[in-house]
Amino acid sequence: MVNVGIVGLGFIGMIHYLAYQKTRGAKVRAICEKDPKRLAGDWRSIRGNFGPKGQKTDLTGVAQYPEVDELLADPRIDLVDVCLPNEWHADVTTRALRAGKHVLCEKPIATKTADAERMVRTARDCGKMLMIAHVLPFFPEYQFAYKAVTGGQYGGLKGGFFKRIISDPLWLPDYYNPDTTGGPMLDLHVHDAHFIRVLCGMPERVQTIGSLRGEVAERFASQFDYGPGGPMVTATSGVIDQQGRPFTHAFEIYLEKATLQFDVGVPLTVYDEKGKSKQPKLGSADPVDAFVPELNETVRAVRTGEPSTLLAGELARDALVLCRKQTQSLKQRKAVKV
Ligand SMILES: NC(=O)c1ccc[n+]([C@@H]2O[C@H](COP(=O)([O-])OP(=O)(O)OC[C@H]3O[C@@H](n4cnc5c(N)ncnc54)[C@H](O)[C@@H]3O)[C@@H](O)[C@H]2O)c1
Repeated sequence: MVNVGIVGLGFIGMIHYLAYQKTRGAKVRAICEKDPKRLAGDWRSIRGNFGPKGQKTDLTGVAQYPEVDELLADPRIDLVDVCLPNEWHADVTTRALRAGKHVLCEKPIATKTADAERMVRTARDCGKMLMIAHVLPFFPEYQFAYKAVTGGQYGGLKGGFFKRIISDPLWLPDYYNPDTTGGPMLDLHVHDAHFIRVLCGMPERVQTIGSLRGEVAERFASQFDYGPGGPMVTATSGVIDQQGRPFTHAFEIYLEKATLQFDVGVPLTVYDEKGKSKQPKLGSADPVDAFVPELNETVRAVRTGEPSTLLAGELARDALVLCRKQTQSLKQRKAVKV
C-alpha cells in the first residue's frame, strides 16, 4: 500500500482526493491545508472549472496538518502529492524529497526553469521519484493519440495542431502574475507543450506570435521547428474566448497512414489511407475520470520502482523550457533556439 499525503486541499487537491478513492494500492493518510475549514473537511468553498461541487467530507482516519513540515515528518507517508499553487511547487517538492518522500507535484513543474532543474536534481540526489501530474495524456482521446503515435501502426508522424483556449478565469486574481500562476502560457498551454514534447521530442526552434497581458503571454500561436524532414507542429492557446465558452481543446495529428481529429463535442475520428473513417470507442469523457489512471500510474511507479514514462520530472521540465522559449519568441518577435 502506498500511503499518500496531499498538500493543498483546494480544487485539484479535492479532485485527487476523490480519485485516490478509486486508485488501486493507495490510501490518503494525511492532508495539509492552511484554510482551517478545508482542513477539517468542509470543501464547500472550493471552486474549479470541472468536476463535482465541494462537499462536507468525513476525514476520519486522515491526519490533518496545518503546516507542511508536520506532514513531511509523518513517517507513514510514502508519497507527497503537491496540489499547491504554482509558486509553491519547487519549495515544497524539494523539501519533501529531502524528507525522504516520493513526490507527485501538479503542473506546471515550476514557473522558473532554474527551479525545475533544482527539483529534478534533488530527486536524483535523494534517490526519490519526482513525477509531475500532467494529466492530459491520460484523457482517453490523448491516450489514443499517444498510443497511435508511439505504437507505430499508422507510420511516422508528419505533423500536428494543438488547441487550448479559455475565457478569462475571472475568479483567479493571480492568473496573470508571472511569479505566482505564470499566466496562460505556463498554466494552460503547458499541457500541450508537454504533450508535444512527449510525441515529438524537443524542437530545434520555436516561433510565437501573440499578445501580452503585463509580462505574460495572454494569447498566442506557436510553430515548433523540428528541422528538415521533422514533424510540422503548431499550437494555439490562451485567453481569447467569450465567457459563454469557458474552455475548448482540440488536436489534429497527421501520420503517414492516418489522420486523427478531436475537438470538444466531436468524438475522436481516425481517417485512414483507404478513404474510410472510424470513431473508436473510448473511455469516459468526464475529465475527473482521467485522474484515476494518472494516479494508478503514479502508484505503480512508487510500488515497482520503475519510473513513469509519462509523468517524469524531466519531461515536465522540458515542457516548461518550451513555454519560456515561446514567451521569449513572442516578446522578441523572432524565432528562438531551444
Ligand atoms: N491538472 C489539471 O487539470 C489542473 C487543474 C487545475 C489546477 N491544477 C494545478 O493544481 C495546483 C493547484 O490549483 P488549484 O486550482 O487546486 O488551486 P486552489 O487555490 O483551488 O487550491 C490550492 C489550495 O492550497 C492551499 N494552500 C496554499 N498555500 C498553502 C500552504 N503554504 N500550505 C497549505 N495549504 C496551502 C490553499 O488554501 C488552497 O486550498 C496548481 O499548480 C494548478 O496549476 C491542475
